[in-house]
Amino acid sequence: MNQGYDKLMAAYGVFREKISFQPAVAIVLGSGLGGFAQELDVKATLPYSELDGFPTSTAPGHAGQFVYGYLGEVPVVLMQGRVHYYEGYDINDVVMPVRLMKLMGAEVLLLTNAAGGFGDGFHPGTLMMITDHIGCFVPNPLRGSNIESFGPRFPDMTNVYDSSLQQLIRDSASTEGIDLKEGIYAQLSGPSFETPAEIHMLKQAGASACGMSTVVEAIAAHHMGMRICGISCITNLAAGFSSEKLTQAEVFETANRVGEQFCRLVKRTVLEIGKTVTVSSDERR
Ligand code: HPA
Repeated sequence: MNQGYDKLMAAYGVFREKISFQPAVAIVLGSGLGGFAQELDVKATLPYSELDGFPTSTAPGHAGQFVYGYLGEVPVVLMQGRVHYYEGYDINDVVMPVRLMKLMGAEVLLLTNAAGGFGDGFHPGTLMMITDHIGCFVPNPLRGSNIESFGPRFPDMTNVYDSSLQQLIRDSASTEGIDLKEGIYAQLSGPSFETPAEIHMLKQAGASACGMSTVVEAIAAHHMGMRICGISCITNLAAGFSSEKLTQAEVFETANRVGEQFCRLVKRTVLEIGKTVTVSSDERR
């Protein structure tokens, strides 16, 4: 039995009833980065609370709704507010919104997050393209009976972050004159920030940034065959790399400060991705 399947299909039914919009690209906005929704020519919104059995985001700075609209010619669905494992939800529920966006029609997923950084030369405000990930102390969202119609029991994870999308992000940063770092993102469960010893371990393992999201979403989306890319906004130096205590306030402060640059990078990237996706004839403008 897969606990999440029936709930997911019920939510999909509500979407079909309420929204006639077929997105080609799905975007998840991280903490403090929800302002990106203003870039969209919005056509509809769907609060998670209207979807029966759907997790509602309780994290600060997360609005908790799907936003549908166009970025240029590209039909997009945004998750304005994601669901985190630390909020207490079952891991199946945490990835339900991402799975739903795939069912809605999105073939590409752009994941963003606020993260603590410890890569060489990183500072608060650095933007990092995710090249790979490490899941650490978080359950795998594919645990339980496999949903064969979604993907295989044992999915290969060699290229989760699509190399051509990575090149599009590099090119977009260069066009926009934005200094972009690259690195491996590690997800821990949170909600406590990491200890310096944990960060030391992650750095030894090759990671450059960490946070409390993204990896489980990438696993579920990759399982369903989505093409995935990701951008971390380094909002703070991770524990042990700064003499300051870590606070959520710093996360929001930095996310706000680099919001304009982040939005430009995401916008340019999505416009470029738009040239590579199939747009349903109903959503062509
Ligand atoms: N650790 C975990 N998650 C985070 C951090 C951090 O330092 N900064 C923003 N999200």
